[in-house]
Amino acid sequence: MREELTIQLRGDYASATGEDMTCDFKWESFSEKDHEMWRFLYNRIKPVVKDKVCKEHQEGMKLLGFDDEKGIPNYDRISDRLEQLSGWRLVTVPGYLPPEVFFRHLARKHFPVMTFIRKHEEVDYLKEPYIFHDVFGHVPMIANPTFANYFHAFGEGGLKAVANESTSFIDTLYWFTIEFGLINTPEGRRIYGAGITSSMGESGYALSEQPAHIGFDLKRIMRQKYRIDEYQKQYFVIDSFEQLVNATKPDFIPIYKEVSGMTPVEIGSTLPTDKIFQPGTLA
Ligand code: PHE
Ligand code: FE
Repeated sequence: MREELTIQLRGDYASATGEDMTCDFKWESFSEKDHEMWRFLYNRIKPVVKDKVCKEHQEGMKLLGFDDEKGIPNYDRISDRLEQLSGWRLVTVPGYLPPEVFFRHLARKHFPVMTFIRKHEEVDYLKEPYIFHDVFGHVPMIANPTFANYFHAFGEGGLKAVANESTSFIDTLYWFTIEFGLINTPEGRRIYGAGITSSMGESGYALSEQPAHIGFDLKRIMRQKYRIDEYQKQYFVIDSFEQLVNATKPDFIPIYKEVSGMTPVEIGSTLPTDKIFQPGTLA
């Protein structure tokens, strides 16, 4: 997850050298306790999200062999499989990265994962991202070539936004697609956003009648305000990953200009022009 930090970074930044801020952390350094933590989280959430996440995520888990792993999936093995499937690899980083460094990784088809897992007592409340979110939430989606292409284009677009001096609109797009996106499928509405997938609570809440479900609209999303420390009051729903890829193909620079002249949309409010799939019971 990329979000503003409200708590102290505790990654070992001294180990991160070079322009890409990767560290030479080895998967082998995880302790038995770390693996145990993974098993606890994995076994707990799997049945909960089983019928809620999109088939691309489930397929990704299968292709990457998550069930064959005895704990935190082996990063080298996952990277080798990902490379065959979509051309991506995992790299390890100490914690949050500055936008430019983060987007550069995506543009190189490198997905940065953290090197620490939470402690048991932190599991359900810490907002800080951690390897369970990164690896369980994001990585299976990257095994899907269409989604992987979107993520790659996102990296290049992010670098362009950095050069253009503002990442706030593209950060919002990241939030409502990669982290909190929903998708309509023949089987019903499903989750593809990693922030929902890796959350015991939000995975149930997001698909409940409480929040609003609004049809994907690029400029509309860029105007949406959000908070990072509570469940979302509205989610944006795509009809397919192709729709997402096509809608984000145009050059964003003129779009940023246009959106910056429009009023932001308050959390929980909808617009007359919104395509409302579900109004939500919260508003
Ligand atoms: N088309 C976008 C741009 O020109 C790049 C992008 C693609 C951004 C996909 C996000 C997602 O900036
Ligand atoms: Fe994330």
